[in-house]
Amino acid sequence: MPALLELDNITISFGGLTALNRVSLRVEEGKINSLIGPNGAGKSTIFNVITGIYRPTDGRVIFQGKDITREKPYLITALGIARTFQNIRLFKNLTVLDNVKIGCHSCSRAGLFGAITRLGGVKREEREITARAQRALEIVGLASKGDELAKNLPYGEQRRLEIARALAASPRLLLLDEPAAGMNPQEKQTLMEMVQHIREMNITIMLVEHDMSFVMNLSDHVDVLNYGEKIAGGTPAEIRQNPRVIEAYLGNEIE
Ligand SMILES: Nc1ncnc2c1ncn2[C@@H]1O[C@H](COP(=O)(O)OP(=O)(O)OP(=O)(O)O)[C@@H](O)[C@H]1O
Ligand SMILES: [Mg+2]
Repeated sequence: MPALLELDNITISFGGLTALNRVSLRVEEGKINSLIGPNGAGKSTIFNVITGIYRPTDGRVIFQGKDITREKPYLITALGIARTFQNIRLFKNLTVLDNVKIGCHSCSRAGLFGAITRLGGVKREEREITARAQRALEIVGLASKGDELAKNLPYGEQRRLEIARALAASPRLLLLDEPAAGMNPQEKQTLMEMVQHIREMNITIMLVEHDMSFVMNLSDHVDVLNYGEKIAGGTPAEIRQNPRVIEAYLGNEIE
């Protein structure tokens, strides 16, 4: 079966630094696919290549059989790939609902301006966007908080709000860059259940995360990067026992 997303020999260099060196991987539809590795290994760079923020020096990104390597980011979103960022990127002084509506902008004719100012003119479109944003908030358990300012949410809820914003773009593939970072155990547990729920909605997930129990409990498949090279790929059980992975990464994480 063809993969939902395929990276074929991706190489990207910044000046003298090769951030990714001939990385190939497959993301299977309906699965939770994780990407792990030490700091600076190239995980976020892979997300930036997939979403069109970086153009690789060499190689191809194939999504649903289509070469998207040189597509613009907004087109890639419209094709069905949405993401969150490693650092929280919210409009802190906007409401929770408005932050999610911004995620709908790529799919709306009224655009970002209309989503924020309600001057879109097309009332029906505005209602549809609000309804879609509300559904996204329900999925992340924030339906009752739409009118609060983003900055007033506790940290764990701010991270979930970012996921709601990504979901509002109706993705087939959702990229989550360290969603559990800085969360307490309770918040991590809630997040884990949420990610499983999103997968059950037939949204494929690609996860970058340093919390190994989070990754190993959730993932169907794990790829491992080290210094821009893919050193392993397999099930969580296979990855845990892989000597190269233990040496490069897991040895330190388990201690
Ligand atoms: N725009 C850029 N310009 C120059 N170097 C970059 C750029 N983006 C990434 N890099 C470099 O590429 C390498 C990989 O960075 P990346 O952010 O992908 O790592 P990461 O695996 O996400 O690490 P972390 O776990 O710390 O988030 C690093 O050496 C980084 O400094
Ligand atoms: Mg990163």
